[in-house]
Amino acid sequence: MKVLVSGASGLLGWETADAFEEAGCPVVRLLGRKSVDIMNTREIIDFVKTEQPDLIVHSAGYRDLDDIEKHEADGFALNTFGTKNMALAASAAGSKLMYISSDTVYDGEKETGYHEYDTPNPVNIYGKSKLMAENEIRSLYAEYFIIRTAWLFGLQGHPENNVIYTLRDKLRAGQTISASRDQLCSPSYTKDIAQVLIKIAQTDYYGTYLVSNRGAASRYDVTLAIAEFLGLDTSLVIPADAGLIHLAKRARNTVFKPIAFPKTFGIEMEDWQDALKRCIDDLKFREVKKQ
Ligand SMILES: NC(=O)c1ccc[n+]([C@@H]2O[C@H](COP(=O)([O-])OP(=O)(O)OC[C@H]3O[C@@H](n4cnc5c(N)ncnc54)[C@H](OP(=O)(O)O)[C@@H]3O)[C@@H](O)[C@H]2O)c1
Repeated sequence: MKVLVSGASGLLGWETADAFEEAGCPVVRLLGRKSVDIMNTREIIDFVKTEQPDLIVHSAGYRDLDDIEKHEADGFALNTFGTKNMALAASAAGSKLMYISSDTVYDGEKETGYHEYDTPNPVNIYGKSKLMAENEIRSLYAEYFIIRTAWLFGLQGHPENNVIYTLRDKLRAGQTISASRDQLCSPSYTKDIAQVLIKIAQTDYYGTYLVSNRGAASRYDVTLAIAEFLGLDTSLVIPADAGLIHLAKRARNTVFKPIAFPKTFGIEMEDWQDALKRCIDDLKFREVKKQ
């Protein structure tokens, strides 16, 4: 299976491209802004038609929730219009399309956990741009997997945007970190998500799926766990209200309780704490190897 990955210089795209390659698939990596412009309809369609991938994993996106509030047109241009172009390109080339969407399509007011059949109602521009992108795909092409996932941690992507590296460096420098305690989701390790994407891609069970590690956590819980697993000073992690540290409104509780994903694929996801522990062990292994 030949795979084209957009956003392959990013946190999830990079991990996904590596995972498909390790599974023996030829991979074409679109490395973000320096690569083919996904907002140029003709250019991306021609590129995909030339490459003829069996699968496109569309992971490029504008994912800074606060920044996108101030740059709405840019956000919709990349997240929504760029995704529409990817759907047209997938259709023209006859490739399966796998789109990485987000828990931010939900408003977070449900107490019992979200599944695939809950009605989206995004509360910020980012969430709206992701939902509109999903809708563009649904209206243009049938052979799609829309994968909604939640807050991601992992070791790839640009280090300055990577929460594991930025937290580690701040904590090592003795700086305090404010993290919200009033916003819950199902955090996920990019390595685990990438492995699931491979399994899903081998099927033609098209549709929309919620995919994450298991359990619920706030930003504060995850930050504290990172500090603890790294053996750093947990007292530097300060709980805060999301409304005081973020510009964009945050959904209060987008914890996943999927129905379609486990029933279709029979995959059991690990708890987020165990996944995070593995991620930090992977980081320690890398640091030792570098010395
Ligand atoms: N991270 C999360 O917590 C999370 C949670 C749920 C869903 N998601 C979704 O998962 C996907 C991947 O997220 P991520 O965390 O891997 O994001 P990321 O690390 O910010 O990477 C984004 C990727 O998009 C590329 N990109 C940015 N602007 C572009 C442009 N104008 N044209 C083409 N490519 C551009 C970036 O390339 P450059 O090298 O040029 O920057 C990078 O490769 C996104 O669609 C995001 O909405 C992420």
